[in-house]
Amino acid sequence: MNVFRMPVSVAVLGATLMITGAVAQPASAHPGPGPGPVPLRTLAAGTGVRVGTAVDMAALADDTTYRTTTAREFNSVTAENAMKWESVEPTRGTYDWRQADDLVRFARAHGQAVRGHTLVWHNQLPGWLTAGVADGSIGAQELRGILRDHITKEVKRYKGRIYQWDVVNEVFEDDGSLRDSIWLRELGPSYIEDAFRWAHAADPRAKLFLNDYNVEGVNAKSTAYYDLAKRLRAKKIPVQGFGIQGHLAIQYGFPGQVAENLARFEKLGMQTAFTEVDVRMILPVDDTKLATQAAYFRGLLDACVQARRCTSFTAWGFSDKYSWVPGVFDGQGAATLMDEGFARKPAFTALGEGLAAGA
Ligand code: XIL
Repeated sequence: MNVFRMPVSVAVLGATLMITGAVAQPASAHPGPGPGPVPLRTLAAGTGVRVGTAVDMAALADDTTYRTTTAREFNSVTAENAMKWESVEPTRGTYDWRQADDLVRFARAHGQAVRGHTLVWHNQLPGWLTAGVADGSIGAQELRGILRDHITKEVKRYKGRIYQWDVVNEVFEDDGSLRDSIWLRELGPSYIEDAFRWAHAADPRAKLFLNDYNVEGVNAKSTAYYDLAKRLRAKKIPVQGFGIQGHLAIQYGFPGQVAENLARFEKLGMQTAFTEVDVRMILPVDDTKLATQAAYFRGLLDACVQARRCTSFTAWGFSDKYSWVPGVFDGQGAATLMDEGFARKPAFTALGEGLAAGA
């Protein structure tokens, strides 16, 4: 499966390298996890962009280097899995907030903002919910109530502690049609605006985001989001942000028109954010691939720093030791900022340089 595939675009790599001017450094330039260069969060302070990471709660509990690096380098965190529905309500009516609470506590202790991820998605739903819909024991009307209660409960629990919520995740197909999911099938397209209304009622100050992959540049999918956002905002539905996941792969080229894409959402009065950035490659790793990866990270970061209302740039994990990529994309990996031994890769250096330049 490769749902994250972008069309191959020729000559983009050269252009990206030229535009961003990212310079590859050997991974050994800043070896080891120790205090090396200025932390990313310090460099980010002057840019208006928070620099974040997804957090793996098992690694945070068990791996000291992981924990200290999370605290030192980032001023925004996202739960990689801990706030998803299957994590918080594994059995109907029985909630488990422990990991999500741990993350919010960790963030508070380290002066980090928290992105909430995610309230409505077609993946990582609890078994009781998908089974109940499949066998007809949960009908449409009941399902709508279940969704409303889920959103209300989770958003209220973290009221005032989460600055941005990914309210709906991945609701469009790449061709711009609404994704076939239990939500669309059972509730119809109005589930999207309902979700934003319910989330807003539960925490009126949190910024509420749409979020998806393959929407970095201007294309059919990002245009579907643009049209949706415009329509919802015209109806005064509380949607305030467009989240671009940013799962890139060097073999598919760098997306075109990223700046234009951010600008059109911002013109609607919305914030933008890069929410899950990683840049994978076909293994094995070599220096050329790492240099390209660095240029891609830098390309997205520069677009964010230069945009008027791009508020956060979040990496989907920072060490290859814990990346989701090898488990999902056959033969691919090395998608994050540090290698498996927490040595800073050229991409890490490129982000630091981009933040410094943007300050
Ligand atoms: C991924 C996590 O990284 C994995 O640990 C998990 O097994 C599956 O989900 N888009 C999203 C994220 O919005 O929630 C996904 O995270 C990656 C793709």
